[in-house]
Amino acid sequence: MKRLRTQVGIVGAGPAGLLLGRMLHLEGIDSIILENRTRDYVVGRVRAGVLEQGTVDLLHQVGLGERLQREGLRHCGIHLGFKRRRHRIPFDELTGGRSITVYGQNELVTDLIAARLGTEQPLYFDVRDVCVSGFDSAPRIAFHLADEECEIACDFIAGCDGGHGVCRPSMLATAAQVYEREYPFAWLGMLAGTPPSCEELVYALHDRGFALFSMRSPSITRLYLQCAPHEDIDDWSDARIWDELTERLETADGWRPNRGRILQKGITGMRSLVVEPMRCGRLFLAGDAAHIVPPTGAKGLNLAVADVQRLARALAKYYHNGREDLLDRYSDECLRRVWSVQRFSWWMTSMLHRVPDGSEFDYRRQLAELDYVTTSRAAMTCLAENYTGLPFDAEGLASKS
Ligand code: APR
Ligand code: PHB
Repeated sequence: MKRLRTQVGIVGAGPAGLLLGRMLHLEGIDSIILENRTRDYVVGRVRAGVLEQGTVDLLHQVGLGERLQREGLRHCGIHLGFKRRRHRIPFDELTGGRSITVYGQNELVTDLIAARLGTEQPLYFDVRDVCVSGFDSAPRIAFHLADEECEIACDFIAGCDGGHGVCRPSMLATAAQVYEREYPFAWLGMLAGTPPSCEELVYALHDRGFALFSMRSPSITRLYLQCAPHEDIDDWSDARIWDELTERLETADGWRPNRGRILQKGITGMRSLVVEPMRCGRLFLAGDAAHIVPPTGAKGLNLAVADVQRLARALAKYYHNGREDLLDRYSDECLRRVWSVQRFSWWMTSMLHRVPDGSEFDYRRQLAELDYVTTSRAAMTCLAENYTGLPFDAEGLASKS
């Protein structure tokens, strides 16, 4: 068996694991990152693409801002569409200049991998049979690399292995609790090789269900449609997708998405999930391993970044000052933000989707809510400050201390 030793063993090379590795490296703390997929798979996976202001600021601070600055699309607002009209929510005006940046998660992961490979710090792709143990005293991560059996001895394990990893189940074998909610609908997402016909995102509620207009670059449009959770993607021809998108998004002034070649499409279910606490001894969960949000508020990636920022800071205090108080507060402080973001994502989701067996009453109440959110400055500000992201430290909430 090959025996390895590091300070922090990181499971998962998604945004959470890679960013944690980056932040620890900048603090002079060693880590090993293990990923069970290939590098091509990780880089090619199409995920969300909206970065909050705080996420962008942090990426600049850790030296990852260059391509983001050049290729990211800065947006100062979004549109809400209903009853064949679009209404703009001007984030910058409502929040004192805050904005969001559209930059695909796979672009961010590409940048993070390149930064990691520029250091001596190990990142192993394509590992198998990852198993974490010894959280109480001597953490260990066992795995196979090619056909070799390996084991890492470390001070801490960071479980950054997403919604289907091994760290969450290992945590749940202890006293941790899961709080969960399934939604009775899913999103059919697609990438189209056509220029976006609007400069900002459009979230729309239509009689036939939700639709979202987004983008990745000046030549690539990203779109989503509400569908049923168990639909077969083969039942959705490109023509049917475009007809449905046009119907749900088109406005009375003649605006509609540009049609083009569909480059990729897939269906994803929607749920909310929180694990409490996010720590068991020397195992810390971060990102999707600890919580899942429905994608309507574009919060998954940003929440992962907020966890990692806290974890990196707590580990730095431990190694540089021998202080454990930030590690002790990690779970409680993260969970405060997690629940605040769960609330927002649930609210956006409930306002913008049609519940399959929902009544006309529900639909009319949703339209009334959209009417309020697009006409009351107070309501618009509430949406804008949550969408652009509450501050990383204070969560925008009164401090409890
Ligand atoms: N061993 C090693 N790696 C694993 C294992 C395992 N047993 N199981 C899963 N992984 C890897 C996955 O292949 C993936 O690359 O862990 C990584 C987890 O990354 P993400 O799923 O992207 O999760 P996270 O880094 O927390 O980022 C949150 O993901 O919610 C989505 O798009 C959402 O933007 C959000 C982001
Ligand atoms: C995306 O561009 O992929 C995207 C945008 C906004 C969301 C979710 C996904 O709420």
